[in-house]
Amino acid sequence: MAKSKYEYVKSFEVEDEVMQPNLIIVRIEGCNFERFSDIHDLEKPNDEKALALMNSCAAAVLEEYPDIVFSYGFNDEYSFVFKRKTKFYQRRASKMMSLIVSFFSSVYTTKWKEFFPLKEMKCPLSFLARVVCCASLEVLQAYLAWRQSECHIRNLYNTCLWMLLKSGKSAKEALEVLEGTQKQEKNELLFQQFGINYRMLPEIFRQGSCIFMTQAEDVVKHDEHGIPIKRMRRKPRMIHNEHIAGRNFWNGQQYLLMELGPFDNEIKKIKAEYVRSFLFENKLMPSTWIVIRIDGCHFHRFSEVHEFEKPNDRQALNLMNSCAVAVLEEFKDIVFSYGVSDEYSFVLSKDSKFYQRQASQIVSVIVSFFSSAYVMKWKDFFPFKELKYPPSFDGRAVCYPSTEILQDYLAWRQVDCHINNQYNTCFWMLVKSGKSKSEAQSYLKGTQTREKNELLIRQFNIDYNTLPIMFLRGSSIFRIKGEDSVMPENGTFEEVKQEIILSHSNIIEDSFWKEHPSILC
Ligand code: GTP
Ligand code: MG
Repeated sequence: MAKSKYEYVKSFEVEDEVMQPNLIIVRIEGCNFERFSDIHDLEKPNDEKALALMNSCAAAVLEEYPDIVFSYGFNDEYSFVFKRKTKFYQRRASKMMSLIVSFFSSVYTTKWKEFFPLKEMKCPLSFLARVVCCASLEVLQAYLAWRQSECHIRNLYNTCLWMLLKSGKSAKEALEVLEGTQKQEKNELLFQQFGINYRMLPEIFRQGSCIFMTQAEDVVKHDEHGIPIKRMRRKPRMIHNEHIAGRNFWNGQQYLLMELGPFDNEIKKIKAEYVRSFLFENKLMPSTWIVIRIDGCHFHRFSEVHEFEKPNDRQALNLMNSCAVAVLEEFKDIVFSYGVSDEYSFVLSKDSKFYQRQASQIVSVIVSFFSSAYVMKWKDFFPFKELKYPPSFDGRAVCYPSTEILQDYLAWRQVDCHINNQYNTCFWMLVKSGKSKSEAQSYLKGTQTREKNELLIRQFNIDYNTLPIMFLRGSSIFRIKGEDSVMPENGTFEEVKQEIILSHSNIIEDSFWKEHPSILC
């Protein structure tokens, strides 16, 4: 297909392959989960149903992505460990991280009503995610030991905190009681004041949950004599274990030994430098425009399964737009967004300090919120179509150093929209008129814009330029400041009222940006 003069903007995208032999972990954790848990009235400090939902989503992730061989989670977090030799998306960190966090959020939203049949999910949720690289198996072992010790520390603390609050103490009083207390003192407090033996609390609270793959024999069918036919199948298995980083547990799991290897020693103390490396995060360059581009994963298949109209399904596009509006409402640092087909680009202001400009945090929070919103809003746009499986989106962050280059980036996406839409309109008209897909393809090979327009007019009496403007130009969403946003005379800052606008403007032309000078100011 034709290429545009704006293609050069692609060169700003950076490679983020995690080199062999690093082991790759993707860790996700609920973003603002306390608020989500308050809104949905989850039990404190642990809600068994919410934990079961997290575990069920993690099992779905392991089934969806066979390269993930082990996972460990507690509370609102989960870590997913890839097999040593994974080639998943060429080991590109952003792809791996974003797909998993997106899929997890979609599944969470889809499965919510299974676990909370009497509670409606009131708002989309999002997870923060990051990739953690482990240079050796020993480092992975230290990582797991660290996460499990965090599970223990946080659970003991939260159990005490909530018992104190439930017994009538104010938040301030409860925090004072707990300040500086050691493990032993907390255990005693629970026992003496509340008659709770911490060790008798459910394992899932104290130890977290592991889900990993096992090979198990499964009866697939019976032959004509009623004899069962068995096959080896990968199956996720969940267990709770006190020492997931211990040799006893790890070396007893065949599948983990095969895909990752054995633990040679026991961890005595988690080294501080390891923990620092687990927390390491790349920051995006300051004073540059940040674009987060998300793109539907295998939407070719998704649109077939859900029988989207070809080449453009108005409702599918409206759903994408509605999710993007929700993203702008939630994340105030986004100043502009542009969407077409199964993709959306979100532009963050140049001076944004959102998540201290940490790429994976920004990408994950946006892509997971979008995915959750997509599932939540599905029935509003397709009341008569069932969502057959949870969709997922990948995401990346790219920095553009000047406003001109950012505008060229957006122009590149809109030109792409035009090229694809014109091609697809011709292609599907030819197919609908009786040509095979390969005939239609060869018919269009090498044709220019003008020829395609002529073909549409001549053969199908369609004037390309009169097609719905959303199909021709894609959708732009941005904020404009409301009337009462004028700075008051006394010069104090007030909450600036902003309106979110959806338009199908030509953003290639300078005139659009001149008409709306405040968007990229
Ligand atoms: P990856 O993004 O690489 O995972 O592949 P993909 O299958 O998602 O393809 P890509 O992102 O390159 O293109 C998006 C695809 O989504 C299109 O090729 C279409 O098949 C499909 N799609 C998007 N919007 C519509 C629509 O409105 N109607 C129909 N029928 N299909 C659509
Ligand atoms: Mg796609």
